Amino acid sequence: MYDWLNALPKAELHLHLEGSLEPELLFALAERNKIALPWNDVEALRSAYAFNNLQEFLDLYYAGANVLRSEQDFYDLTWAYLLKCKQQNVIHTEPFFDPQTHTDRGIPFEVVLRGIKQALVDGEKKLGISHGLILSFLRHLPEEEAFKTLEQAVPFRDAFIAVGLDSSEMGHPPSKFQRVFDKARSEGYLTVAHAGEEGPPEYIWEALDLLKIQRIDHGVRAIEDERLMQRIIDEQIPLTVCPLSNTKLCVFDDMRQHNILQMLERGVKVTVNSDDPAYFGGYVTENFAALHESLGMTQEQAKRLAQNSLDARLV
Ligand code: ADE
Ligand code: ZN
Repeated sequence: MYDWLNALPKAELHLHLEGSLEPELLFALAERNKIALPWNDVEALRSAYAFNNLQEFLDLYYAGANVLRSEQDFYDLTWAYLLKCKQQNVIHTEPFFDPQTHTDRGIPFEVVLRGIKQALVDGEKKLGISHGLILSFLRHLPEEEAFKTLEQAVPFRDAFIAVGLDSSEMGHPPSKFQRVFDKARSEGYLTVAHAGEEGPPEYIWEALDLLKIQRIDHGVRAIEDERLMQRIIDEQIPLTVCPLSNTKLCVFDDMRQHNILQMLERGVKVTVNSDDPAYFGGYVTENFAALHESLGMTQEQAKRLAQNSLDARLV
């Protein structure tokens, strides 16, 4: 079944490039950039990958991103992810990057963007993988900071297709970013947002009504609100679900409790994605395989999930 799932043509619509930083590359970049690390070796770092919630993960994710300094580093990060896509027959990807994670450390916006974009362009040419890049704002920071990031981005308008919203969800509702999303839409960008991962269904309503998003990232808590479920089904609003992430961050205690197939059978346009594969134990095929092993996902269901991912592309 793994090989069959791996061969299925699919799109990945929820992937943080910074979250694809494997421990081996993290150590190599630390050495290249002469950065001292708090872990003795790759194994010690990997054993720190045990999380009780989103925030515990984010603390390590931001610490890991500190080794990314030069345009070449961002290129190498993105290229390594694209090689994984090639191995797993991901034919189209719409990755996120978090500029503020880097600009707040003094790395210029254009260094980050150029490295990532060059790798994505090479990925189209050399690997045949198409893409649409998404700039994601960090929701734990003030809206003012998101406005500054958008201003830095506008001169590179054609490099990306949409803006998103990620980082610590609780206490940072979508409404906090309504004005900057208005501005982004007026500049011609599409919009997506993380909502209903740890946060309540109200955050999903806000993301739809105030941020006017095309897709909901995660959204698994929509199932708690029947009226919301009806809307998502009626309007066929895609959900970018990340099963291994959800179990690693304790959104569900166990994969057998995951609601993705229940949603699929109710007619929700759910898709399977890896979120932060280096931290959560697998890329997109491993996420599909986990659904087969724990929930008995059939080949027919896998085909529908993969088709949903191709249909839910922004570009
Ligand atoms: N940043 C990287 N991964 C994330 C996730 N799963 N939720 C929110 N912010 C993130
Ligand atoms: Zn995410």
